[in-house]
Amino acid sequence: MSDSRQPIGVIGTGYVGLVTAAGFAELGSEVWCVDIDAEKIARLRRGEVPIYEPGLEELLARNSERMHFSTDIADALANARLLFVAVGTPPTYSGDADLSAVQAVADAIPASREHALIMKSTVPCGTGASLRRVFDEQDKGGLAYVSCPEFLKEGTAVKDFLHPDRVVIGDDGGWAGDAVVELYAPLGAPLVRTDIASAEMVKLASNAFLATKISFINEIANVCEPTGADVVEVARGMGLDDRIGSKFLQAGIGYGGSCFPKDVDALKQLAGNSGYHFQLLTAVIEVNELQKRRVIGKLHKHLGGLVGKRIALLGLAFKPNTDDMREASSLVLSARLHADGADVTAYDPVAEEQARKLVTGIAFADSALEALRDADAAVLVTEWQELLELDWGAVAEAMRGTLVIDGRNALDPQLLRESGLLYEGIGRR
Ligand code: UGA
Repeated sequence: MSDSRQPIGVIGTGYVGLVTAAGFAELGSEVWCVDIDAEKIARLRRGEVPIYEPGLEELLARNSERMHFSTDIADALANARLLFVAVGTPPTYSGDADLSAVQAVADAIPASREHALIMKSTVPCGTGASLRRVFDEQDKGGLAYVSCPEFLKEGTAVKDFLHPDRVVIGDDGGWAGDAVVELYAPLGAPLVRTDIASAEMVKLASNAFLATKISFINEIANVCEPTGADVVEVARGMGLDDRIGSKFLQAGIGYGGSCFPKDVDALKQLAGNSGYHFQLLTAVIEVNELQKRRVIGKLHKHLGGLVGKRIALLGLAFKPNTDDMREASSLVLSARLHADGADVTAYDPVAEEQARKLVTGIAFADSALEALRDADAAVLVTEWQELLELDWGAVAEAMRGTLVIDGRNALDPQLLRESGLLYEGIGRR
C-alpha cells in the first residue's frame, strides 16, 4: 500500500476501535492505538487479541508492523493529526449516554490547529456542538471535529469495515472532513457527507429503525401463534418487497448487545430531553423486554411448573460469532428460570467466560450434549452454527424429555420431529 496514507490515532481499543485501527492499517495507514487499560495494551503489544471477533486476529497480525499500542495519548498526538475516538458511551440510570470517557479524551487534547477529533463512539445528537462550545471555552477553537459514525456489526465487524454499505461523514467542510473522505476512498462505498448533527442522528436513527424492525416482526410472530400463521413464511413474503427488505425480520427472543438496547434508550431519552415523547420507541423497548420472557410461558405450557425441571440453554451470547454477553436475552432468561426453581445448564461455544461474570445460579457444560443430558427441555438461545448442526437423534437420546424451544427460529422443525423431539419456535406453526 502507498506511503502517502495519512497516519491515524485511535483512542479506545474495544470492538469499534480495534477493528477501525486494524482496518485502516490494512488500507496502508500507520496507526497509533491508545487505551487507558494498561493490561489490554500489554496484551495487544504481545500480539494477543482481547476480544473474540472473526478475522480480527489475522488482520492485526498481517498489519502488526503498522500498528503501535500505547497508554499515552501523546504518542498518538505526536504521530497523527486524525484522532478517531472509539471509547465507550454506556447508558446511565436515566437512559442518557454516559459521555465521561468522550469528555476525558476531549480534555486530554491540547489546543492545536493541527489535530482533529473524529468521533466514532455513538453519541447523542448535539454532542459535536457541545464539544465545540467546550473547545471554544478552553481556547481550543482551532481543533477540528468530524462525526464519523460506525455501522459495523459484532461477528462480521471486519467484513463490515472493509465493505461498508455507506460511509457517513459529518463536518463543517474543513480539512479534517476531506482527510477522512480520503481515508475511506479506497473502500469505494457510497458517501454521505453532511453536517455534524445529521451524521450523529443517522447513527441513532439507523439502530433505532433496525430495533423497530425486530420488535415489529416479534409482535407479528406473537400474533401468528394464535392465528395459525407461520412468521418465517410471513417474513419471507414481506421481505421480498424491496421497500421492506428481508433483513432484520427474524423473529426470536429479542435483541440484545451493547448497541440496540443502549441506543434505542438514548434516542428515546434524547427526544424526551428535548420535550418530545417518542412513543414508537417506548413500544419497541417494551416489546423487546416481554419477548425475552416469552420462552418462560412456553416452558410452563409444556412442562407445568418449572421447579426442579432440568432446562438446557444452548448458546448464551447476544448473537453468534461473538463472546459478547452485554444485554443478551440469555441473562433475563436464565435469571427467570433460576427464580422459577428450574435446574439450568448452559453451553456456549465461546461466551462462557464472559457469561460466568454475569450469570449466577446456573451450571455450565463443555458441550451441547453434556448440557442436554437428562434435560426436560432445551432452548436454543443463540444460533451458533455448531448448534444448528447438532445430531438431533443424539439429542433425543441424551434428553429426558422431548421439548426443544427454538428461540431464534433457526432450526429445521421437520428434522427435529423426525428425531422424536417436540419442536416449538417463536410464531411458527
Ligand atoms: C448493531 C447494528 O446492526 C450495527 O449496524 C451497529 O453498528 C452496531 O449495532 C453498533 O451500533 O455498534 P450488533 O449489535 O453488533 O450491531 O448486532 P446485530 O447483528 O445488529 O444484532 C443485534 C441483536 O438483534 C442481536 O441480539 C440479534 O440476535 C438480534 N436480531 C437481529 C434479531 O433478533 N432479529 C434479526 O432479524 C436481526
